[in-house]
Amino acid sequence: MKDSKVVLITGAAKRIGASIARTFHANGYRVLIHANNSKDEAIELCFELNKERVSSANALFADFNCHEETLKIATDALNYFGRIDVLINNASMFYPSSLAQAKTTDWDKLFNSNVRAAFFLSQSLAKELSERSGCIINIVDTHADKPLKDHAVYCMAKSALKSMTKSLSLELAPRVRVNGISPGAILWPTEIEEEVHDKGQQKKSAILDSIPLKRLGDPQDISNLAYFFAEEGDYITGQVVKVDGGRSLV
Ligand SMILES: NC(=O)c1ccc[n+]([C@@H]2O[C@H](COP(=O)([O-])OP(=O)(O)OC[C@H]3O[C@@H](n4cnc5c(N)ncnc54)[C@H](OP(=O)(O)O)[C@@H]3O)[C@@H](O)[C@H]2O)c1
Repeated sequence: MKDSKVVLITGAAKRIGASIARTFHANGYRVLIHANNSKDEAIELCFELNKERVSSANALFADFNCHEETLKIATDALNYFGRIDVLINNASMFYPSSLAQAKTTDWDKLFNSNVRAAFFLSQSLAKELSERSGCIINIVDTHADKPLKDHAVYCMAKSALKSMTKSLSLELAPRVRVNGISPGAILWPTEIEEEVHDKGQQKKSAILDSIPLKRLGDPQDISNLAYFFAEEGDYITGQVVKVDGGRSLV
């Protein structure tokens, strides 16, 4: 237990990040769960995991709009268990950001949460990950390649994260592997959930119709691939794999 591997997952208090945390934990990892606003959910998740195995989970808090807070969680994360083997950059803001409406504050929020934090956490932890022959996994989006209308800044931020995945895979080789996962429709975004009934339902039906497998993915589909990259994909680096039920082909 004392020697078991450690994963730091950003934005992991709920949804896909929490599923990744549970999957790594179920396979013997100790987990560091980063959250910003969802502090209660992060603490509750740690409580659940620590009940299964004592001292196997801890929560760390930072707003990635604050660069100092971002750097501090890298230090705190490393100090907590004394090692980090896997960094998973999962945190993200997602909301419309069209050319007509986006402000510099939207640019900052979307780039800070989706890519700036991922870059500087990777920078801060590169030495440790290198010593552990570890890996970085970036959670991208199929919309990095196929833009979503009216979400220009978000799509640009995810494209930057995809590009960063490839750049860092070269820079950190041969000791650290860097890969990405591009989810398609896995969980409905709050934006659609909050639409008045009919409109939200119409949007959901249109999305489901556009997916060859005719269903949403499951957070576990993302977690399984993340765990594969960490534990099985020894000869894979610089790859960004779509998990989207074939939607990007249509
Ligand atoms: N859901 C999907 O179907 C889907 C589709 C394509 C791509 N993805 C990608 O998959 C990943 C997980 O998706 P998701 O839907 O589970 O994500 P999400 O719920 O939209 O966001 C994950 C977490 O990011 C954190 N976050 C946002 N802004 C932050 C900031 N300024 N500082 C620190 N943390 C911040 C939030 O933490 P707090 O709640 O603690 O504030 C949030 O819980 C994301 O990278 C997303 O872009 C998801």
